[in-house]
Amino acid sequence: MDDHRHPLSPRLNHCPLGLPREAYVGADWHAREMETIFARQWVCVGRLEDHAPGTLRRATVGNASVIVAHGSDGTLRAWHNSCPHRGSELCRATEEPLGKLIRCPYHAWSFAAADGRLLATGHAIPTADFDRDAHGLRPVSTRVWNGFLFLNLAPEPGELWADVGLATLDNWPMQSLATGHRWETEIACNWKTFWENYSECLHCPGIHPELCEMVPIYGRGIMGQTEALGWTPDDAQGPALRPGAKTWTMDGAPCGAVFPGLTPAERAAGYNFVTLWPSVYVVAHVDYVRSVRLVPEGAERTRLIAEWHFPAETLAQPGFDAAAVAAFAKIVMQQDGAASEMNQRGMRSPAFRAARLMPEEYEIRRFHRWVLQQMEG
Ligand code: FES
Ligand SMILES: [Fe+2]
Repeated sequence: MDDHRHPLSPRLNHCPLGLPREAYVGADWHAREMETIFARQWVCVGRLEDHAPGTLRRATVGNASVIVAHGSDGTLRAWHNSCPHRGSELCRATEEPLGKLIRCPYHAWSFAAADGRLLATGHAIPTADFDRDAHGLRPVSTRVWNGFLFLNLAPEPGELWADVGLATLDNWPMQSLATGHRWETEIACNWKTFWENYSECLHCPGIHPELCEMVPIYGRGIMGQTEALGWTPDDAQGPALRPGAKTWTMDGAPCGAVFPGLTPAERAAGYNFVTLWPSVYVVAHVDYVRSVRLVPEGAERTRLIAEWHFPAETLAQPGFDAAAVAAFAKIVMQQDGAASEMNQRGMRSPAFRAARLMPEEYEIRRFHRWVLQQMEG
C-alpha cells in the first residue's frame, strides 16, 4: 500500500521485526545489558539536591553499587561500593556522614575521601611487595545535568545520550527546582518493555482516557502531527492541550506561577519531553517538571521512581498540595505500568518470537537499534 509518507515524517516505511523474545525474559540477555548498556552509559541516580554536602550516599548503576561522596566543599566524587581488600561493601546505609576518611566496616582499611587513596590497612601489616597506590577505591564518573546526577562506570565515558539537544530545558530554572512529590513503584516487566510503551501512542486511545482528553492528538493514537498519514510540513499545528488547559494537572490549570523564561512555543506546547536512555525521562511543563527513572532489578522487574520538581515559591503557597498536582501523571503512569506488565506476561508465551512493528512505532525501532548498538559497541 502506498502510504503517501512525507520524507520528513518519522513514520516507518515498512513493518520491521522487534527484538527477540529472549531480550525481554532471558537472564543472559539481561546480564549482557548490565555489562554493556548500563556499564557504559550515563545513568541517572536522582537529583543532586538529595545528596546534601557532607554525605556519603549509595546509588545503583546497573549491577553496580556505587558510593557518592558530596564533600562539604561541594566536590562530588563516586566510587564502586566495594573494598579493594576482599570486596566488602563500604557503605551499608543509604546515607552516612562524610568525613575525611572512608573506612571499610570489615577490616578497617581507610581511604581518603578527597581522592579514594588507600591510607591505612587496619590491623593488617602488608609486606614490601604490597603496592598501596594500586589499591585505592575504584572510581566512577559523575556528571550533573540540570540538577540531575548521572554516574558512568566506563573508564572513558562518552557523552550523555539524549533524544533532543541537551540545551532543550535551558529556559527552565532546572537547578533551582525542589522535589515536592515522589512516587515509587515496582513493575513486573523488563525495563525495555516500559520504554517501548513510552515510545508509542497507539495504545493511548485504549489505555489512557484521561490523557487523551488532555492531549487530543494522543486520542488519534499518535504522539505528534508529523506521524499522521498524509502529513506535510505545511499543515497547521493544532493546539497541544485541550481548550483551556495549560499544563498536566487534573483541571489543566497551572499549580503556581508559570516559568517566566519560556518561549511562546514552549508555553504553547504544554509538555516538553527529554528522553535520556536508558535511565530517565524528563517532562517539563509550564509550571513544574516531572522526572521518571527506570531501574532494572532483573530481567522481568523494573523499579519506577517518579518525582515532581517545583519552584520554591510554588511549594511555599499556602495549602499547596504536590500530591494533587502529581495525581494526573500518576494515573497515566499506573495505566502504563499495568499495560507494560500485560505486555510482559504475554511475551513469556513460547508463541511469541518478536514484535512486528507498525509505522507509528518508529521510536521503538530507533530504541531497538540503539540497544543492539550499545550491546555490540
Ligand atoms: S574487605 Fe574492606 S578492609 Fe577487608
Ligand atoms: Fe502510555
